[in-house]
Amino acid sequence: MSPFVNRLNTLVTFAVLLLAILCAGASFLDCFHSPAVQANVEVLKVNRFRRQLTGNDEVLLTLNMSIDLQSAFSWNTKQVFVFIAAEYETEKNAFNQISLWDLVISDKHHAKFETQVTSKYLLIDQGSNLRGKRVDLVLHWHAMPITGRMILGKIPVSSFQLPKAYT
Ligand SMILES: *[C@@H]1O[C@H](CO)[C@@H](O)[C@H](O)[C@H]1NC(C)=O
Repeated sequence: MSPFVNRLNTLVTFAVLLLAILCAGASFLDCFHSPAVQANVEVLKVNRFRRQLTGNDEVLLTLNMSIDLQSAFSWNTKQVFVFIAAEYETEKNAFNQISLWDLVISDKHHAKFETQVTSKYLLIDQGSNLRGKRVDLVLHWHAMPITGRMILGKIPVSSFQLPKAYT
């Protein structure tokens, strides 16, 4: 190898090593970043509760939410994906999880908000098990980093009971 190529080789090796250390460091620092996410999410109204022609129960809800995900952002966060899941148990499945609403938040300044929305997605059961069913609402978030691993978090926000009869 010529002295020049040799020196270039050393330089590139050093640069790659440095980058690897920086990435590991960024990811490592994230381990010490424990977010204190706050959220209040409640069902304001059951807009629709019926059995579809296919035999599956279908529910449309209005949610009142007050969410503060600012603490899920660190300097190493690219964006945060947040969703509200309805979680419940049936005889058929021990765990059912259905996303009702979601959002991609791309900066900290938009991570705190209050809103009342009709759920983006219908709650559709595999079957007709929802009359009188107790359902938990859980806020989940996935913090996608610039470098390092994705950080997953969740907090239960509220529970509600569906009507005993279709509307
Ligand atoms: C919605 O939630 C906020 C905060 O959690 C609360 O102050 C407000 O009264 C709620 N609105 C309704 C209509 O329940």
